[in-house]
Amino acid sequence: MNDLVFKDNFVFGCATAAYQIEGAVNEGGRGKTIWDDFSHTPGKIFNNENGDIACDSYHRYKEDIAILKELGFSAYRFSFAWSRIFPNGVKEINREGVDYYHSLLEELLKNNITPYVTLYHWDLPSALGDWTNRECAYAFRDYAKFCFKEYSSEVKNWITLNEPFCSSIVSHYQGRHAPGHQDLNEAITSAHHLNLAHGLAVQEFRKLNIEGKIGITINTIYPQAASKLKEDVLIADFAKACQTDIFISPIFKGEYPSQIESMLKLKIPIEKDDLNNINQKIDFIGMNYYSESLVKYDENSPFKMKEVNSWQKTTEMGWSIVPKGLLRFLRTLNNDTDNIDIYITENGMACNDILTSDMRVHDTDRIEYFRQHLLYCKKAIEEKIPLKGYFAWSLLDNFEWAYGYSKRFGITYVDYQNNCKRIIKDSGYFLRDVMLSLI
Ligand code: BGC
Repeated sequence: MNDLVFKDNFVFGCATAAYQIEGAVNEGGRGKTIWDDFSHTPGKIFNNENGDIACDSYHRYKEDIAILKELGFSAYRFSFAWSRIFPNGVKEINREGVDYYHSLLEELLKNNITPYVTLYHWDLPSALGDWTNRECAYAFRDYAKFCFKEYSSEVKNWITLNEPFCSSIVSHYQGRHAPGHQDLNEAITSAHHLNLAHGLAVQEFRKLNIEGKIGITINTIYPQAASKLKEDVLIADFAKACQTDIFISPIFKGEYPSQIESMLKLKIPIEKDDLNNINQKIDFIGMNYYSESLVKYDENSPFKMKEVNSWQKTTEMGWSIVPKGLLRFLRTLNNDTDNIDIYITENGMACNDILTSDMRVHDTDRIEYFRQHLLYCKKAIEEKIPLKGYFAWSLLDNFEWAYGYSKRFGITYVDYQNNCKRIIKDSGYFLRDVMLSLI
């Protein structure tokens, strides 16, 4: 049966991130972040846009929570802006920022929406430099510990980091994200420091013995081999190792995949006890899934890895739509993470959304995308993969990092020309009907 009926305890939510939606960058005592610096550097972001205003959610969070309520979501995944709480990343606490998140949490709880808080979604306080600085890991530990104590009565689900792949490899090797560097050593060093930050925070959480669960969100990248040839299979395996297992293996096995040092010919700056500190038991793993690619061995490509053409329709990001990849990734992740609970913490697509004169957005492609991916979620549950919830990316159209406002991922349209007016798209109503078991 192709219906989309999920059990009542399956968590349905939407996800966002602070820098992408909040705006109000100079309000409430917030400190500067590397994304403020990066987005204000000419040429880094499409149209030189930035997150100064974004969706103005800082001021309009009640309106946003009302949308979640109207559509029937039981959960909301959002991130704290570290620099609202510690403007310089460490030591001095900004009470106004702390209280801001109390108000947001109170509003969610009043509406029976469970908060899933991401502690770090890429907006490192500028005062800390960047993740090549090992001190960031200790600063993150202290910030996390503060949050666990401060918010433990309101928050029961914590996500340490969002997609450390992006804050290390994309930011320090590909140069597409803040701080925009292009150095492989830096990228791998940052990855290690992010892993350490995660592990230290988990340890603090356990020490406090507070009620709740803690996990991490990874953008699993498991490219498939473009043929059955041994060299293609090996290169796909290498891609998995340095894009995903570089985070999964130290957390679950206390070691890095051996290919990283041998094939990249560099040294991960592991210090005494680091691997033990990272190898901490977590309660769930978050997986962000958007697409799947195929790779082959190619002598002349960087790392001898070449992405090959696909046939599928692509999203506005140019990403192939591969719903079955979601199931493949869930199987692999489940296999590599000791059968712990899994949440899809992001899934969605960018479309060329048109606001009609009667104020509707008929985003049929996005509806089809959700439908297909949710069907594979059901299939995964039938296969006994412990998938516990699904968060659509995103509640709102928002600042899509290097793409500025040119890409829309929301189930709610944000009319940037018209005071950021919110208009629920058809896909929002579709998800409502899924939650009502009407599809
Ligand atoms: C990130 C989001 C981003 C989305 C779409 C994920 O990598 O966590 O912040 O907007 O993908 O690109």
